[in-house]
Amino acid sequence: MLAGQPTYHGALSAITASGARAVPVSMTDDGWDLDAMEAAMHQLAPDLVYLIADNRNPTGHTLPAADRKRLAHIVTGTRTRTVVDETISGIWLGQPVPPPPAAELTRRRDLDLTVGSVSKSFWGGLRIGWIRAERSVMPAAMRPSVDMGTAILEQLSAAELLVHTDELPPGRREDPAGAPNPTRGAWRNVTGAVAPETTTVV
Ligand SMILES: Cc1ncc(COP(=O)(O)O)c(C=O)c1O
Repeated sequence: MLAGQPTYHGALSAITASGARAVPVSMTDDGWDLDAMEAAMHQLAPDLVYLIADNRNPTGHTLPAADRKRLAHIVTGTRTRTVVDETISGIWLGQPVPPPPAAELTRRRDLDLTVGSVSKSFWGGLRIGWIRAERSVMPAAMRPSVDMGTAILEQLSAAELLVHTDELPPGRREDPAGAPNPTRGAWRNVTGAVAPETTTVV
């Protein structure tokens, strides 16, 4: 599995734990070296590429719109399945991130998988995440090997929050440590209970 170097440490652990091998492609000071990625995709024919295109952890880079087009071209040309991690897409600071790489891959949905969660955009206390992919292309290695058994209350809260995706993340962006916990309304709607007042940052 191809991954930019450096990359999110949790992804590297997950790749290793699944029995796959992470092959690094070095990032430059300016961001991605698409020539190097293209060469690696041609020469190594990896099963998957792992990509954080927005507010990259740990470098903070965002893949420019033109490079998203070029990357989509490389992905379709080499027919390489690509996992785009959108977990931190919603918490840009300077300017909004460009449309997701998936927007450039409309003709090859089978090559594009995305992963995301509510922890950064909404609340770190809510442990809900997802994999979005066409069922037919979901590799066995990405299916959780254990049932994480997430509580139904949390799942309902996440479903409620996702309806408000445009409204809630701005508060998190402006003051992630001190912003009022944006999940409170959702929890109240789902349970009638009152959730903690402040957010946590993880
Ligand atoms: C790029 C990226 N993906 C995934 C995660 C994990 O997110 P969660 O806390 O929802 O498990 C993180 C956490 O920092 C991250 O930076």
